[in-house]
Amino acid sequence: MPKLSEAEFPSGCKSLPEGFWSAVEVWVKKPHVVNKRLCGATETESRDVDSDDLRKLLDNNDKEEEEELLQDVFQFLCSGDSPAHTHQKDKPWSSTVRTFIPKVNCYGAKQQKEVVLKDSDRQLVTFLPFEEDSAAGRVTLKKCNIYQLRLCSKGCEQWALELHVLTSDGWLSDGVAYPKLPWLSSDLLPKLARWAAECKSSEFKSTLSLLPVEKYSLTYQQLKEKYKSMVKVWPEVTDPEKFVYEDVAIATYLLVLWAEERAAKSLTDPQSFVDLGCGNGLLVHILTNEGHPGRGIDVRRRRIWDMYGPRTELEVVLLLPFLCPPLLFLRLLWEVPEAPV
Ligand SMILES: C[S@@+](CC[C@H](N)C(=O)[O-])C[C@H]1O[C@@H](n2cnc3c(N)ncnc32)[C@H](O)[C@@H]1O
Repeated sequence: MPKLSEAEFPSGCKSLPEGFWSAVEVWVKKPHVVNKRLCGATETESRDVDSDDLRKLLDNNDKEEEEELLQDVFQFLCSGDSPAHTHQKDKPWSSTVRTFIPKVNCYGAKQQKEVVLKDSDRQLVTFLPFEEDSAAGRVTLKKCNIYQLRLCSKGCEQWALELHVLTSDGWLSDGVAYPKLPWLSSDLLPKLARWAAECKSSEFKSTLSLLPVEKYSLTYQQLKEKYKSMVKVWPEVTDPEKFVYEDVAIATYLLVLWAEERAAKSLTDPQSFVDLGCGNGLLVHILTNEGHPGRGIDVRRRRIWDMYGPRTELEVVLLLPFLCPPLLFLRLLWEVPEAPV
């Protein structure tokens, strides 16, 4: 069970061990902060477990091979060097299942999941990947990609963050939820150590936490497919890849947010909007196309405006923000329709 790498903390680091757990929290709940191929992750089935519960959770059939893997996993879970770190609780692990949500769906009907086991007595967290094939009704614990983060006290307020893997030769990178093994040492570990030292989990209250992330991911993929042809015909001097996908992402965010708002307030009419300083107008075009009446305003007309067709309302207007100071800070205004009576 090799130690792969280690990150040291500045001596006298006051944020530990709490900072370790807040950094782990960011990595579990918001893996996309470090891994840009992900849109996020969802967590389910959170509960405290003992070894019997774990056996039930991980044991999906009784083949000999599986039993061997389970033995190795249990040994891995109980590793850690200090005898003072024996378990004090009946249910020593806090368990949760996280499901990765990739930016681009690469797993088909399968879902890439992990059992995340936090062991607060031993200050370590273990990640156990498994694959759920809902079509085949099968769950498979994987031998590869099992890893662990450990906070180790070196005495005199010295700490180190260690990365261990169950087997270093059995790592399979899928380029999405599981980047190459060296990435864990070169990118993930230093970030976790920095967050732990700064204890800054609250910094990552991302705007996506306001939305159901699966819905966002699905809508983003659909809209990207629908509007990607714009990249080929982009007549502006600006980078089409950047602008098209950025505006698709903003449109996705608004469309999901508005759908949630309509559901919460039992509204049927779509929200209308005005985009102030709309630039190329693509956001206005997408929102209009997706059923929201609205218009874009900009001081300068763009060539691409002519390509959208008459339904996309774009206007050249000079806004004078000093006449209406909130305009200095706003880009997009939207109107919530009246609730039906
Ligand atoms: C930073 S760009 C943003 C463009 C677009 N919203 C986007 O995100 O790609 C700011 C836009 O605001 C427009 N703008 C700046 N001052 C303006 C004003 N006083 N009245 C109208 N449009 C203005 C500019 O022409 C420019 O297209």
